[in-house]
Amino acid sequence: MHLVIISGAARPMPKSNTAKIIAAFRKGFEEGGNTAEVWYLSDRRQWQSAREAFANNELILFALPLYVENIPGIMLEFLEGLPPKAQPGTKIAFLIQGGFPEASQLRCCESFVQTLPPYFNCEYAGALIKGDMFGVNLMGEKLGSKMVLPFEEMGRSFAKAGRFDDAEAAAFAGREYLPASTLRKFELIGRPMQKFFMGRIAKSLGCKKKLDDRPYALR
Ligand SMILES: Cc1cc2nc3c(=O)[nH]c(=O)nc-3n(C[C@H](O)[C@H](O)[C@H](O)COP(=O)(O)O)c2cc1C
Repeated sequence: MHLVIISGAARPMPKSNTAKIIAAFRKGFEEGGNTAEVWYLSDRRQWQSAREAFANNELILFALPLYVENIPGIMLEFLEGLPPKAQPGTKIAFLIQGGFPEASQLRCCESFVQTLPPYFNCEYAGALIKGDMFGVNLMGEKLGSKMVLPFEEMGRSFAKAGRFDDAEAAAFAGREYLPASTLRKFELIGRPMQKFFMGRIAKSLGCKKKLDDRPYALR
């Protein structure tokens, strides 16, 4: 089985969480003799090759980060210029990951991507969704690799049927909403810690004021 993976991430590949997730997924998928090729839409020089790969293959996976509740603009632009398949039989699956932890965050985008395959004369082959992926790159190599490890198993699983299994994807997505007790704990411990670490990251990136600074506020 050969899989064409197209990354819809806007961030360049070396800095992209999606790229790390794709690498783990691909590892699992290629076990047992399957093959995969990956194209990154963040590099516009790859768009023509991605179009050709889409045209010449029958199993496609779009992997993307959630941007403002839906697909990144760069991916939408690519899809707008993508010619539909002349013959039916191609399957398109989606892997959507986001920063916020609740699976409910990703459901709007999931509903949207379900509408896409018919525009290209293709079949929908399911979607894998996962939140809480914001830190993959920030956490460094060791912790980041641990965060994306579950995608390796999903790659193995995808290889069995050439699509995402609905029940397995639902379990993989995790909780739709965090329980009230977790939210309370977050307010007490998580939020101050997050503020502290975000402040440090901002400082390392050259930010000179506090993150909640309001330079245009009326005094
Ligand atoms: C402009 C922008 C908008 C985002 N919007 C959302 C969002 O609506 N929901 C969410 O859960 N994560 C959101 N995120 C977080 C990303 O989905 C998350 O960090 C992802 O892992 C980034 O993947 P990438 O490094 O491949 O771009 C947003 C990130 C950016 C930069």
